[in-house]
Amino acid sequence: CLPPLHYRDEALYMEQVSVKELVKHYDTPCYVYSKQAILEVYQAYTDSFASLKHQICYAVKANSNLAVLGVLAQAGAGFDIVSRGELMRVLAAGGAASRVVFSGVGKTYSDIEFALAQGIGCFNVESISELALINEVAKTLDKSAPISLRVNPNVDAKTHPYISTGLKDNKFGITHEEALAVYQQAADLSHIDVVGIDCHIGSQLTEVEPFVAALDKVIELVHSLREQGIELRHIDLGGGLGVRYIDETPVSIDEFATALLPKLSALGLTVFFEPGRSIVANAGILLTQVDVLKPTPHKNFAIVDAAMNDLIRPALYQADMAVIPETLPKNGLDTEGTQAWDIVGAICETGDFLAKDRLLSLATDDILAVTGAGAYGFTMSSNYNSRPRACEVMVDGDRHQLIRKRETIEALYVDEILWQDK
Ligand code: LLP
Repeated sequence: CLPPLHYRDEALYMEQVSVKELVKHYDTPCYVYSKQAILEVYQAYTDSFASLKHQICYAVKANSNLAVLGVLAQAGAGFDIVSRGELMRVLAAGGAASRVVFSGVGKTYSDIEFALAQGIGCFNVESISELALINEVAKTLDKSAPISLRVNPNVDAKTHPYISTGLKDNKFGITHEEALAVYQQAADLSHIDVVGIDCHIGSQLTEVEPFVAALDKVIELVHSLREQGIELRHIDLGGGLGVRYIDETPVSIDEFATALLPKLSALGLTVFFEPGRSIVANAGILLTQVDVLKPTPHKNFAIVDAAMNDLIRPALYQADMAVIPETLPKNGLDTEGTQAWDIVGAICETGDFLAKDRLLSLATDDILAVTGAGAYGFTMSSNYNSRPRACEVMVDGDRHQLIRKRETIEALYVDEILWQDK
């Protein structure tokens, strides 16, 4: 069966819909997601861990469009959220609060109150003060709050420093050394129900070893807790499995499961995962049109209608993302007509680029697709330079549907108020 994104007679297709048709309908810049690709990865997770009681809590931050959440909710997914806004999105998309875990270092009184009132599945607690706050809110609401402690196992995820979270220098979690004492405190609190243990060591991990090292540390704690009479119901291993953007070779979900399953089965707990990127990154593309070609003696710039406000990963993390043409040159990508181009946006910043030194044969008005754009693409977009955010479209087989309208320019300042001189 064809991968969701493929060429047919030199034309790029997402599932059964040509990119040409999508651009005609929705214009550019435009995010396009394959429903089938999202469900395939979700299914790969549930199949690989089928021998264990498990719950896949999709990390909403990767792509929080209601249609994406709705498709996953229907497939039975739970969700990992980090804000009240993400929880409201999950609920609006038909997700069940009881299958949601609430991560994040800065939960406020009102975040906790709202989540408890909705019947949240679990708070992943990141500090002692948060634990006390949750207990206080739960007492006021006369509820018992289900919690896990997010343990920081001090394991090097070997990924970009901005997205590595499991080192002792990072702001996340409770140190491995303090964890037992904090669990003891939690168990003594009147309105706290200790249900699990959690860790998340980083994102875009391509090797399995850091996951195994983190799991070993968490298992150590589970055993010590048992000895102290604290019985947990679940273990949450966070997200972080990487994807191929250009030439990375991340472990497959199956290999990931094979490495972890023996240790997990022996534990007898329900296992939670919080994958974001691996579920949606390669289900999505960003379509953009070449507006201006600017060859210079030193470098060639192709100025396109998407920019760092639409997709900030290259600018923020120097992330390499593939850029492919809508129409494949007759004799493949390595033809004589190709030149090295920097694919840049129209924003007034040198850091505004989508890709550098890409061998392409380009003409004005050509359509390009940035691949791997389904995760941390639209969700990190902004209105910098007063640019309305792109529209989003979902494809399923030969059907396509708008799932977020392109923003209007008027909407950008509709909530602003002119200063009134008396
Ligand atoms: N759980 C927690 C607690 C997290 O902090 C994250 C991601 C995830 C799960 C999901 O991780 P994933 O499976 O997507 O790797 N904006 C960056 C990625 C930041 C990830 C932050 N935390 C990027 O574009 O590369």
